[in-house]
Amino acid sequence: MYLTEEETRMLNGDRGDAVKKAMEILVALGESFGAKRLVPINNVHMAGSSVLVAEEAGTRFVEDIRTQGGTFVTNVTTNPTAVDPTQWQKIGIPESDSILQTRLTDAYAGMGANTCNTCIPYLVGNTPRFGEHMAWGESSAVVYANSVCGARTNREGGPSGLASALTGRTPEYGFHLSENRYGKFLIKVETPLNDMTDYGTLGCFAGKIAGQDTPVFTGVPASPTLEQVKALSAALASSGAVSMFHAVGVTPEAPSLEAAFGGKEPEKVVVFDLAEKQKVEAFLNKETSDRVDWIQIGCPNASVQEIREVAQALEGKKIHPDITLWVTTAGGMYAMAERMGYIKTIEDAGGVIVRETCPFLARSRVIAPNKGFKTLTTNSAKMAFYAPGQFGLPTHYGNLDRVMQAAIDGVWR
Ligand code: F3S
Repeated sequence: MYLTEEETRMLNGDRGDAVKKAMEILVALGESFGAKRLVPINNVHMAGSSVLVAEEAGTRFVEDIRTQGGTFVTNVTTNPTAVDPTQWQKIGIPESDSILQTRLTDAYAGMGANTCNTCIPYLVGNTPRFGEHMAWGESSAVVYANSVCGARTNREGGPSGLASALTGRTPEYGFHLSENRYGKFLIKVETPLNDMTDYGTLGCFAGKIAGQDTPVFTGVPASPTLEQVKALSAALASSGAVSMFHAVGVTPEAPSLEAAFGGKEPEKVVVFDLAEKQKVEAFLNKETSDRVDWIQIGCPNASVQEIREVAQALEGKKIHPDITLWVTTAGGMYAMAERMGYIKTIEDAGGVIVRETCPFLARSRVIAPNKGFKTLTTNSAKMAFYAPGQFGLPTHYGNLDRVMQAAIDGVWR
């Protein structure tokens, strides 16, 4: 792989051990994917910021980099952690996770990260530009950045994100190259998409078919909401390993079908109709009883608009005493929602607004049995896809109206 003079000096250790180690990671990664060179970047979103993933060894690795003089030379934001720092005891997060998480978050902050600890960095100040090369982790955010913003990133893991933040470089392969950004197959949407849950259902359907390929959608309404494309992005990267989608007439690199496919024919054409939609909904509804214990809203993290809708559903009502409702969000969203009075409404009704973590990245295999949770209920296709396997809770899956009714009634209808 070609390296500039400056990159060669970094690799030789002229800028210290931390940068040398980082360059070794990037060169090894680039060579394994056939990259011809590195591209300069100024934007990293760091995966691996939860100690559920990093554990003691990963935490020590990040601390060592900091001790060796590691300093971030790019803008860096961080993904959710394993801990809500404001109420970890109350919501059942083990103390050991809280202690370890403080060490890991401090190490990132000490090197210059903006520890926003959210999977929606694009809503808290890290908004990708069209055509911008970046190194982002967090699969849902990667799909959103590539597809909705037209930025260019592969799906980075913790070590490669860290290496990019220390050097301001990422290997040029995959979604950094225009020829890899075209669609492979066509999905004709032939059933109405009414809310963000429907977009998640579509994403789950397409991700299963796609694997790592890029789907192109036709029939998606011209102006989906941010929350709807956020749900679609997350679901595509859950049931599949998708990093980008095109929606013709909606996303910036798909003004036409021809542009989305780079002038080539789709390798296959698939229809998403009512029957397919119902099959995916049945697949995600793993729980057969009407039992509801733990309700999760905010995967990906809830926007102010989503928090507002939860507050509207709970205005003047009470959540059933047997139900625990989590709305997971970023600190920045919380601050705005608090100002609007939405947080108070939800808390008065008995709900919990959780910051900086979610059931997937917190130790739910400890939290759930300790709290007696046997089912998870959600409006998120991503959460419904992962909950049964990742932390052993079968799911109820439905749109926000249905989920909020379950929160009040205490049963799934
Ligand atoms: Fe975000 Fe957790 Fe969902 S990181 S996308 S809320 S699984």
